[in-house]
Amino acid sequence: HPANSIPDPVPIAIVGGTGLSSLPSPPFTPLALLPPPQTPWGLPSSPIAILSYTPPSSTSTPDPKATTIAFLARHGLHHQYAPHEIPNRANVAALKRLGVTCVVGFSAVGSLKEEVKPRDFVVVDQVLDWTKGVSPPTFSIPPPPPPPSLNQPPKTNPFPFQVRPWTFFESGTVGHIPMAHPFDPPLRALLLHTLTTTPGLLLGPPTTTTHPSGTVICIEGPQFSTRAESLLFRSLGLSCINMSAFPEAKLFREAEIAFALVCMSTDYDSWREGEGEEGEGVSVEMVMGHMGANGENAKRVVARLVEELSRGGNEEVVRAERWRGTARAAAGIT
Ligand code: ADE
Repeated sequence: HPANSIPDPVPIAIVGGTGLSSLPSPPFTPLALLPPPQTPWGLPSSPIAILSYTPPSSTSTPDPKATTIAFLARHGLHHQYAPHEIPNRANVAALKRLGVTCVVGFSAVGSLKEEVKPRDFVVVDQVLDWTKGVSPPTFSIPPPPPPPSLNQPPKTNPFPFQVRPWTFFESGTVGHIPMAHPFDPPLRALLLHTLTTTPGLLLGPPTTTTHPSGTVICIEGPQFSTRAESLLFRSLGLSCINMSAFPEAKLFREAEIAFALVCMSTDYDSWREGEGEEGEGVSVEMVMGHMGANGENAKRVVARLVEELSRGGNEEVVRAERWRGTARAAAGIT
């Protein structure tokens, strides 16, 4: 494909989590694989794939602006970044540079409610930050690492003693962004419309349910929760638990990018009596068992979502820029 077939800017991006590290062709045609761009916050987790979506039975020419999307693998192409090592600021900055205004993220989660079964999807509307972000000592930006090979991106952590840098506002730049509604309401509405008006979109067995709201708690990890922690989180009425919602959700807000998160349930965490091998609770094997099916369903959701966006009438979603000229400028993201 000639480079000029890539619209500039690319307004829509998908951030894939565990179980969703690429989008298949067909129906997604790769147009380019942009090497991870250097940002003031280091390299993003993966190259950014630019893909165009072609509906299976397209009769009219789709709007390339609405059918071309960017895709970033949150944990890297080889799942080499543990949740606490994800270069979130570089990921958000790299997407911002592409002109992205609207991001849908997918994440594997544990369930904290009986009714949220493995393979169910939760379109969360709230999030609780249980990570352990600590303030770094004064640091200088390290020199850029050598150019990455696409096959084996270098595993670099520019801030080895720092846990999850969680803001673009620092070193004299002060900014406080509202977080009451961490996920963009119009984008969530569009996602829910997509998920609920397409019968059989999420494939079984077992049958899969879409939960239209819920709160996800993000723990530091990489260990799963103790039973006491899991029971505490459950007693708060939370729906699900993961290790990556923060600081991603905060940084998208600071960068004025509309963000929504689809949580894909893989396990009942550690609260449920008798769950897992010898009642050990959640294990990597349990998570992996449902991940493949979740990933397939996520791809179907992305396809339907892009169809929905290409139909137009969703300008508000695609153009959402809530805090124009404040957070973005202060954070130096242009
Ligand atoms: N991701 C998938 N399952 C999880 C769990 N039980 N806790 C935290 N993150 C998860």
